[in-house]
Amino acid sequence: MTTSTAPLPIQACSPAEAAREVAREIAVLIRERRAAGRMAVLCLPTGRTPLGVYDELVRMQRDEALDFANVTTFNLDEFLGLPPEHPQSFRRYMRERFFARIGLEPTHTWIPSGDVAPAQIAAHCAEYEREIADAGGLDYALLGIGRNGHIGFNEPGSARDSRTREVRLHEVTRADAARAFGGLEFVPERAITMGVATILGARRVRVLAFGADKREILRRTSEDTPGPQVPATFLRGHPDVRLLADGAALGR
Ligand code: GLP
Repeated sequence: MTTSTAPLPIQACSPAEAAREVAREIAVLIRERRAAGRMAVLCLPTGRTPLGVYDELVRMQRDEALDFANVTTFNLDEFLGLPPEHPQSFRRYMRERFFARIGLEPTHTWIPSGDVAPAQIAAHCAEYEREIADAGGLDYALLGIGRNGHIGFNEPGSARDSRTREVRLHEVTRADAARAFGGLEFVPERAITMGVATILGARRVRVLAFGADKREILRRTSEDTPGPQVPATFLRGHPDVRLLADGAALGR
């Protein structure tokens, strides 16, 4: 796959419509895979944006007998320096917002470890890549987008061929997280993220963006020459990508 100037396919829809559409696609994937005796491998994000998708999948389990027994998940990223029980850790977010609600086995949910010893980080990242490969690769990557154009924690400057690794968080990312942490000084400076190439390896990619805060970065994601200055621009080279965004984010 080469870096592409192709436009990013866009579906304008409300947040509720986007949640239903993405959850429906994921449910179809899970059922197709189960019929074939295989696991469905999902790449999942945190943040405010995907909460409607998680709620809709929980509803589908309850009302439509959607069964998650054949699902494996890999999260995009995790803050470094946070134990799994920390209120702002992505491990805890995922457990509370999704995994515990659907009874997903912890052995089927992969998230980079926030409390891995510094000397072990590189090996931990390499192991994460191996686990994704051993699972057969990512079937479906759901992404949000940072106001600085990050995907996962691939901050501006991230290369197209980057893999799972330790990163330094961008000042915009830390400022956006400051409120949840109760102050900028409590926001970790470093994180582990799946790489751009890891994400682009997913067979299908869906990006969600809602609200006027995302308008300028969506414009740049669609119009800038693809490059590390806005990592989300690399998505335009993917063969099966779609952005689902509301009117406020699209400036319509
Ligand atoms: C977070 C995550 C991203 C997420 C983005 C946007 O920090 N690392 O995966 O997509 O920032 O967050 P939100 O959905 O809250 O706008």
